[in-house]
Amino acid sequence: MRRDPSRRGIRTPWRLAAVGCMLTLGGCAHHQQSTLQASGDGAQRVEGLWWLMFWIAMAVFAEVMLLLGWALWWRRRPRAKIRGGDAIGGIAVLGVVVPFAVLVTVYGLGLRDLNALAAPRQDPAVTVDVIGHQWWWEVRYAHPAGAVTANELHIPVGEPVRVRLRTADVQHSFWVPQLMPKTDLIAGKVNQTWLRTATPGQYRAQCAEYCGKQHAFMALMVVAEPRAEFDTWVAATARPATTTLTAAQQRGREVFERSSCASCHTVQGTTATGSVGPDLSTIGSRWSIGAGAAPNDAGHLGGWIVNSQTIKPGNAMPPQPVSAQDLPDLLSYLQSLK
Ligand code: CUA
Repeated sequence: MRRDPSRRGIRTPWRLAAVGCMLTLGGCAHHQQSTLQASGDGAQRVEGLWWLMFWIAMAVFAEVMLLLGWALWWRRRPRAKIRGGDAIGGIAVLGVVVPFAVLVTVYGLGLRDLNALAAPRQDPAVTVDVIGHQWWWEVRYAHPAGAVTANELHIPVGEPVRVRLRTADVQHSFWVPQLMPKTDLIAGKVNQTWLRTATPGQYRAQCAEYCGKQHAFMALMVVAEPRAEFDTWVAATARPATTTLTAAQQRGREVFERSSCASCHTVQGTTATGSVGPDLSTIGSRWSIGAGAAPNDAGHLGGWIVNSQTIKPGNAMPPQPVSAQDLPDLLSYLQSLK
């Protein structure tokens, strides 16, 4: 029988192994969302527990392999015979006593970490309400009050920040892998968690509970910055943008206020006060559009306005009939909002 020529070359198991290795290495390369590169108090505890369990699993694997090797060798000896008492003793120690000790230790350490994660040592000076929507994060600062943004959470370095979690629709889960384990957002309930990191930087967060078609594009960026920069950002975000608009940006603002944009979105200091979609008062400085769906540049923002369904199908924003004349002015205005 002749072999199918298409089946030549690399065998399937090797192909699968290669794909597995590539995915694993790809995961390593994406530092911003790796639980094994913990930077926050909560995530460091989770990482510690993970490594402990990993090395225990490695030790158990090695032990089982050694016992298997020993059994194979022993069985081939002439007149191999096992005494009942020896077998029962071995099973009692390796099969009962050791696993019991390991499980009780890991359980105890897990309880210790759960207890430590329940509340930070110092009472947080910053409290933020984070509200989950299909499929974006509304972020409202309660203390210091006033700043509202979306898909972005600024925190001061070295201080715990209280995060109160609610959902506007279905169940979501708030997860910043490098900073904190998951906390669910449950309808009719306010759940609390807290974050603290000593290292300034950007930490990608991801909705961790399947919440519909665009669950994957429900990302949020945590920006940890020194206290002075955080204070400046909160104060600037809490008041209307102060930049002087160019003539084109002024026209863009008029387009924004008279079109359907204003009925769904808010821009502070304008007549746009909609609350269906994200507050756009600082859209010009955000890390992405569509909660991680596309980079925040003029091209993608233009594409998003005209028909966001081609970028993130199923999101709540219908295609917008903005004329080719108005679009550049509108984009210029939106990009000036920082
Ligand atoms: Cu929200 Cu998944």
